Amino acid sequence: MAKIYLLVAGVMLCSIPACPLDNKEIFTRLRQMKTIPSQSCLEHRHDFKFPWRRENITSIQMTQGTCYHHLMLQQIFNLFTMESSYAAWNSTLLDKLLSSLGQSLEQLEEVTLDCPDLGTDVWKYFQRIHLYLKGKEYSLCAWEVVRVEIEKYLSFM
Ligand SMILES: *[C@@H]1O[C@H](CO)[C@@H](O)[C@H](O)[C@H]1NC(C)=O
Ligand SMILES: *[C@@H]1O[C@H](CO)[C@@H](O)[C@H](O)[C@H]1NC(C)=O
Repeated sequence: MAKIYLLVAGVMLCSIPACPLDNKEIFTRLRQMKTIPSQSCLEHRHDFKFPWRRENITSIQMTQGTCYHHLMLQQIFNLFTMESSYAAWNSTLLDKLLSSLGQSLEQLEEVTLDCPDLGTDVWKYFQRIHLYLKGKEYSLCAWEVVRVEIEKYLSFM
């Protein structure tokens, strides 16, 4: 029952004309924040073990996608509202990113009414990101590595 309901919610979500555009907007704003070439941070690269493989994303989208995406965006929002995020990024661009994220979250909240327990995969994934940033003392390179990681997720969705 829950799955059928979520499928309907997912379809409803993507029939909202702004839906696919919103991800694009978040993606674009995240991209605009780039300040240092990723190549200069190569030795800081890290495998955060994203909980799904590329081929999973489409099937996730079809079923519980709305709920997962909501959870992901919430965590991305939390990540970029940290104090150290303001220290690392251009605050004008960061505010724009957060505003896009906030809008998407509001839209998702209108349709994501009854999410099942999604387990701890997403939470653990973001724990790894937070621990990594802390371990690297929130350096600009560490933030750039994380920015690229989130960008990758958004480009799949
Ligand atoms: C992703 O796919 C793999 C194999 O195709 C499967 O074992 C795994 O459970 C899937 N993950 C999710 C979250 O659906
Ligand atoms: C932040 O970005 C804006 C928009 O691109 C730019 O006008 C501004 O000069 C930047 N601020 C800093 C401190 O780099």
